[in-house]
Amino acid sequence: MKILVATQKPFSAAAVAGIQEIVTAAGHTFALLEKYPGQDELMAAAADADALIIRSDKVTAEVLDAAKSLKIVVRAGAGFDNVDLAAATAHGVVVMNTPGQNSNAVAELAIAMMIYMARTQFTPATGSEIMGKQLGIQAFGNVGRLVGKKAEALGMRVMAIDPFIPAEKISEAGAVPAASLEELYSSCDYVSIHIPATPQTIGSIGYELVSKMPKGAVLVNTARKEVINEEGLAKALRERPDLKYITDVAPDSYAAMQEEFGLRVFATPKKMGAQTAEANMNAGLAAARQIVDYFATGNTRFQVNK
Ligand code: 3PG
Repeated sequence: MKILVATQKPFSAAAVAGIQEIVTAAGHTFALLEKYPGQDELMAAAADADALIIRSDKVTAEVLDAAKSLKIVVRAGAGFDNVDLAAATAHGVVVMNTPGQNSNAVAELAIAMMIYMARTQFTPATGSEIMGKQLGIQAFGNVGRLVGKKAEALGMRVMAIDPFIPAEKISEAGAVPAASLEELYSSCDYVSIHIPATPQTIGSIGYELVSKMPKGAVLVNTARKEVINEEGLAKALRERPDLKYITDVAPDSYAAMQEEFGLRVFATPKKMGAQTAEANMNAGLAAARQIVDYFATGNTRFQVNK
């Protein structure tokens, strides 16, 4: 089988070498497409591939039409909003993710982002400390839980909410369960977002929630830019000069926001939450192993389009 690693944002060389080793040791053919300029190159490279390993690369219905031999796509990472699941299912293509493999990297970035904003983007202006502050975690999955543990160790009080996790489980994990999103936003000095981009969550965080945040609060987004209602966020920042926003996924209106809000907003130039040597290795090798295992035994444990 031909297994193609197609990554616009490449894995580290060590992770690529590790993937190649797993693929070839299992008797498959390894192919690599990195930093490709557009979807045409992806479609051409995927045309004869049996399996794809991707990151945030867009596997659209068009790509799936072009990839005539494709049997499986593994998103080396957590979020799979970049894959057209309905089209994949219609083509009989199995889609998997590698949950948990890059969570620590993202959680560490969320903590770093809180400190970066607390210390006024590392300028000499007087900042604040995160110790003793309350952190609200929106979605208590692999990343959210890790952020909670790290924040607790730094002396923060941790509150969390997750529509799929009962309050008792959140308490057992050491966080205070919030009764509602309104409670989370209105009582936390920092809110860290860890929800996926779905039809239910897209545009769901805007003026209503952000404007409820306490004085001096900071919203931290290492999830997806699409979950933010940018107009609503801007309105809240405009009305409340004490609020701040930091994100690993630049808003569409970032230039205008920077101009209007200065040091109160910050976005990384390129999504970097999962961009560590460790996360590249963990997620890349897990993806390769899942594909090899699927071809050998039919194991669909991490399939997301069942
Ligand atoms: C994920 O969903 O796993 C993260 O957003 C990482 O995305 P990336 O692999 O494109 O860096």
